[in-house]
Amino acid sequence: MGLTRVSGLLFGGDYNPEQWPEHVWDEDVRLMAEAGVNMATVAVFSWSRLEPRPGEYDFGWLDRVMDLLHANGVAADLATATATPPPWLVREHPQVLPVDATGTRLDFGSRQSYCPSSPVFRTATVRLARAMAERYGDHPALAMWHISNEYADHTLECFCEESARHFRRWLRERHGSVDGLNAAWGTSCWGQHYTAFDQVNPPRKAPGPVNPAQLLDWRRFCSDALLECFELEREVLREVTPEIPVTTNFMSVLHGLDYWKWAGAEDVVSDDAYPDPADPTSHVTVALSYDLMRSLRRQPWILLEQAASAVSWREVNAPKPPGMMRLHSLQAVAHGADGAMFFQWRQAKYGPEKFHSALLPHGGVASRGWRDTLALGADLKRLAEVAGTPTTAHVALVLGWDSWWGLEAPESMPSNRLRLKELLQAWYGPLHAAGVAVDLVPPLGDLSGYRVVIAPNLYMCTGEQAAWLEAFPGHLVVGPFSGVVDSDDQVHEGGAPGPLRALLGVTVDEFWPLPEGTVQPLRLAGRVVPARTWAEWLRVEDASGDTLGDAFGGTEVLARYEGGDLDGQVAITRRGKAVYLGCLPEDVTPVLTEVLAAAGVEPVAVVPEGVEATRRGDHLFLLNHTTDPVKVDLAEPGTDLLTGRDLAGPIEIPGRDAVVLRLANSGARRTDTESPLTNEGER
Ligand code: GLA
Repeated sequence: MGLTRVSGLLFGGDYNPEQWPEHVWDEDVRLMAEAGVNMATVAVFSWSRLEPRPGEYDFGWLDRVMDLLHANGVAADLATATATPPPWLVREHPQVLPVDATGTRLDFGSRQSYCPSSPVFRTATVRLARAMAERYGDHPALAMWHISNEYADHTLECFCEESARHFRRWLRERHGSVDGLNAAWGTSCWGQHYTAFDQVNPPRKAPGPVNPAQLLDWRRFCSDALLECFELEREVLREVTPEIPVTTNFMSVLHGLDYWKWAGAEDVVSDDAYPDPADPTSHVTVALSYDLMRSLRRQPWILLEQAASAVSWREVNAPKPPGMMRLHSLQAVAHGADGAMFFQWRQAKYGPEKFHSALLPHGGVASRGWRDTLALGADLKRLAEVAGTPTTAHVALVLGWDSWWGLEAPESMPSNRLRLKELLQAWYGPLHAAGVAVDLVPPLGDLSGYRVVIAPNLYMCTGEQAAWLEAFPGHLVVGPFSGVVDSDDQVHEGGAPGPLRALLGVTVDEFWPLPEGTVQPLRLAGRVVPARTWAEWLRVEDASGDTLGDAFGGTEVLARYEGGDLDGQVAITRRGKAVYLGCLPEDVTPVLTEVLAAAGVEPVAVVPEGVEATRRGDHLFLLNHTTDPVKVDLAEPGTDLLTGRDLAGPIEIPGRDAVVLRLANSGARRTDTESPLTNEGER
């Protein structure tokens, strides 16, 4: 059984039939069947059509859509339709509309026009979700519930009075008393001592920098408040249709929502991803988000939305050149997706997204886009056996939202240039280039099965998290500006890396952020390379905190700065199996190469630059992201599922093309290997 009751890989997209006269629907489903579409996401923005007046439903049109889909072999990822409240709701109850940080109430006329804390909004969503579940729970087309849509896309936070009251309740729960809040927020600074919870507001626009601890709690609260909205609807769906899986579409590596928490609340992880066709490195950036999606529940996931060609919301919306739509879809599957779906099925005639590409373009069946749609549908069918197969990674990157929120608090950090996504990518890029499989893990996550754990940044690190890393028996790499604060954003006594000091055997004497355009050179693996963005003045110490100078105790110096303000100072260290970098070298490959070798981590396959290699079960994906043909030497023979050809030895992969090999010997090889470190839950 796959993620839904649909077998094979999912193919299809958002379908908005309410934007078209009914006679078009027949053509839609005929063409869906022709293209091999097996799932459509419906009713995402249909609230105002489904409930035109309070409590009065018009399900007739959606009944006909659901019947038509089913009759043509297309399952429904049915939305609860709560992503945009209808005009009557916001006009009758203007307090449903969100308020920004300056106190301005935002008006209706776009989407997601709601305050996440509004009881009126929440009650209305739950009522609609129940009506949908009762109406369609037994419909044979129903395969998955899609709650709301892209939470936090436009509305992550609301600063109204209702939100303020909700925030205070959340704070009382977290801190127990107003004294607890004062202590956690360090309100003695700048005279902010509170004597009652009702004096506390959301971090609205203030004359100067807002208390960073208040901002941190606000970030936590906003993620939780939206999650409550999701959970309220999910409860109803679970009650009425317990057998139907529930999802909500994530937005890749999104700052606003703690996806570890969110993923735990849904049955299936799904994601929307829009790599920019104009950015030659976007396939690397997006690969990281795909690996995150797979890691969130340690199971396959669904690429629920991507663009067939151009999007409509960038400065310039570049189309996908020939081959890219197919390659990017295969890439998602290569990283654990059990479906490659799109926004949207038929290109819109009106509205802000009328120039957004679709599986069926304005030009209709004569268009290049439609030919690509037919070809992709056929390819995904050929890959049906890949659905449900696991990915095994021996390297994990640590990503925690609390720490991310702390790190990127505006206006109070040593540098605003340390951005978590870039820090993650600095490690992920070389791992990706080396063909090494990577998972992501949350702080305190299960590390069994991993040989290398890399924390590109752990600005916020508790004693418990330090103990978690200490207990990890494999190789550990910790990036700069880690172990700086506790969970209330208060600096650890004695300075960074705080509770990680014994493990890493270093102390940060002073942070040395580098302004744009400046570098701090260091000698690494025999070469002088620049560190950009960040460096630190490190002291090498033993576990007791005694400075060891050049005796090093248990701490080795792997690299020193050469030239610049930090000339001769320690840049990178190793204590036991724990490497610490006090800077971000331009390229971390030399550090990585050594650690991977010491840990015995092998690449999935040896491939030339620009070629991506991933493995799912017994399948090897080789994706050529360059525009030129490349040669790859296959370590073992197999059958290319895309062409049906048996391949062995050296092969050529044309530009923007792919090979998906069912490996011939993998069954035998697997039993030969001593204890494969498959992650729990992935077998
Ligand atoms: C997201 C949304 C869709 C649409 C697309 C456009 O995926 O969920 O409704 O707006 O973006 O790229």
